Amino acid sequence: MKIGILGSGDVAKSLGRGFLSEGNEVMLGSRSPEKLSTWTAESGNGASSGTFAETAEFGEVVVLAVHGTASVDVIEMAGADNFKGKVVMDATNPLDMSAMPPRLVGGLGSSSGELIQNALPGAFVGKAFNTVGNSQFYKPEFAGGPPDMFICGNDANAKTEVSRICNDFGWNSIDVGGIDLSHYLEATAMVWIITAFAGNHWDQAFKLLRN
Ligand SMILES: NC(=O)c1ccc[n+]([C@@H]2O[C@H](COP(=O)([O-])OP(=O)(O)OC[C@H]3O[C@@H](n4cnc5c(N)ncnc54)[C@H](OP(=O)(O)O)[C@@H]3O)[C@@H](O)[C@H]2O)c1
Repeated sequence: MKIGILGSGDVAKSLGRGFLSEGNEVMLGSRSPEKLSTWTAESGNGASSGTFAETAEFGEVVVLAVHGTASVDVIEMAGADNFKGKVVMDATNPLDMSAMPPRLVGGLGSSSGELIQNALPGAFVGKAFNTVGNSQFYKPEFAGGPPDMFICGNDANAKTEVSRICNDFGWNSIDVGGIDLSHYLEATAMVWIITAFAGNHWDQAFKLLRN
């Protein structure tokens, strides 16, 4: 499958490596695609880079892995038509990075997931991979077994696809509900971030324990 990942940072590269390991073709997108030349060379066959528009057009599934407060601008640059009818996996968190740890911006109704879905009425947004650090995205190994990935979105087929990706990457997925609940996933990411900063725990992930 062709996966278009909008982003040039650690999240895009880590997801890209995972998708390549699963036998997909991957294009990473940036305003300056040339800065991804080392990543594409190191990643080998199936890896490429392009502009945001080229990447969104390329992807049969498109992933948003850009700065969370820039998502809507990136969609404008990419062209909403290039997402039409596609599953869009949103890994973003809208963070104010002016101090550390960062602070969450947005809330119910103005979360990153909702803004992305509103900007892409012809596409099907499924939020995932925003509640864990990128070093654990692919085949994480924990003594307690596979961790849980919280996902949300409005479209059942999109959530089935996003859930399959989570499973392929070594996660259980937990469907939290519609994209209107995106803010709660973004706030959950803050729990991960605050506890990671407090204890220098970058190798942690969530798991719901149930009887
Ligand atoms: N870091 C993690 O472990 C982690 C884990 C889960 C989720 N997340 C979330 O995943 C997303 C990506 O995180 P990251 O750490 O890989 O990278 P990042 O530094 O948050 O974002 C880098 C990307 O955002 C784009 N960007 C930044 N400002 C922009 C603007 N004003 N207009 C257009 N594009 C802009 C950059 O485009 P150019 O390539 O053109 O420079 C680049 O592709 C974020 O939303 C983050 O909160 C992060």
